[in-house]
Amino acid sequence: MGKTFLKIAAVYFSIGVLLGMTMGIIHDFRLTSVHAHVNLLGWVSSAIFGLIYSVYPFAAKTKLAKTHFWLHNIGLPVMMIGLVCETFGITAGLPVMIVGSLAVVVGTLLFTTNIFKMINASRIQKANDLNM
Ligand code: HEM
Repeated sequence: MGKTFLKIAAVYFSIGVLLGMTMGIIHDFRLTSVHAHVNLLGWVSSAIFGLIYSVYPFAAKTKLAKTHFWLHNIGLPVMMIGLVCETFGITAGLPVMIVGSLAVVVGTLLFTTNIFKMINASRIQKANDLNM
């Protein structure tokens, strides 16, 4: 799960900076909030998830981690599609954005639960490995 999160973070980073560069070139900043969310929830948050799951491989193997991965990476693109529609005045944008953001929020709560449960388990396992 750590490596998968890091790979998808790099993809969000490319999309985020390409969008930022395009907005700058064409002098149209209407998609600034899409750019900011792709960079912060997509690139920065996913890279941090990936690094945490790499440091705590125990936490990365749980069902909570897998569910978190899918909720985050289905929820965020859906949320961004909703935000783009909202920005261009398409009425369906708001409910789409709400559905996507709910998925991201639920995923985040699962991530938090996973961290609280598994970080101690990782420490106990490491101590067992070292025969401490
Ligand atoms: C080459 C890379 C990037 C380019 C060309 C770029 C370009 C832009 C542009 C043109 C804006 C709109 C500014 C305006 O509305 O006046 C913007 C806003 C923003 N960018 Fe980027 N950006 C880049 C990378 C990033 C990264 C890596 C992040 C976060 C990790 C980020 C976060 C934001 C945020 C939060 C805003 C909104 C700022 C505000 O509304 O006050 N950007 N960026």
